Amino acid sequence: MGFKIIAIDGPTGVGKSTIARQLAEKLSCLYVDTGAMFRCLAWCWCKQGCPESDESQEKLGEETRIVFKPENVICNGTDVTEEIRKESISALASKISSFPLIREVMKKQQRMLVEEVRRSGSYQGAVLEGRDIGTVVFPKADFKFYVDASPEIRAKRRLLQLQECGEDANFVEILAALNKRDYQDQNRKVAPLRAAEDAVIVDTGNLSATEVLEHLAACVGE
Ligand code: DC
Repeated sequence: MGFKIIAIDGPTGVGKSTIARQLAEKLSCLYVDTGAMFRCLAWCWCKQGCPESDESQEKLGEETRIVFKPENVICNGTDVTEEIRKESISALASKISSFPLIREVMKKQQRMLVEEVRRSGSYQGAVLEGRDIGTVVFPKADFKFYVDASPEIRAKRRLLQLQECGEDANFVEILAALNKRDYQDQNRKVAPLRAAEDAVIVDTGNLSATEVLEHLAACVGE
């Protein structure tokens, strides 16, 4: 098979990034974290004072330059790798991801990025992770996965991660935030989070990261 496009969608906290990054590496594909793109826009939007007019949304989308380095994300020349992971940016990213104009610009940029990589010949394909990759951005992707796990399992994993970093964390609060994000992602009018009809559904609840990776790689034929 030539250049392949692999879509990995799923809710927050399900471990998509780890899975997508490892699968991309295994298959010599470009890894695209589309959530990080929304987070970069949210970071710029915050700097501008969060204007909501159509004009400012379009301008935000068109003027934000995002560059993915192997370990870092650069937005308009600034390394924002850590800052875009802050809770305040997560909340703003969730908000702007419901704006139709922003989604339109993101879709175009994601398609352009993949097209450039396809033409460059430097990768065997692209693995994109997000919420609407298999349904909206690349409805004709060669492989589509929808990774899922119950909110309780995702919250428990998040709790462990935070505790390992020595952070104060509360299961009930984490679960509430996660349920809220799920609701927003699943109920927005444009490109809501859902599995594409032809996506392979992977419940990661009882699987280790390695088992998930092996399952996806086997589906892709590796
Ligand atoms: O995956 P993440 O948590 O980094 O995503 C950040 C926000 O962007 C989240 O609220 C969902 C949204 N998002 C989206 O709407 N569509 C995508 N393809 C990726 C992320």
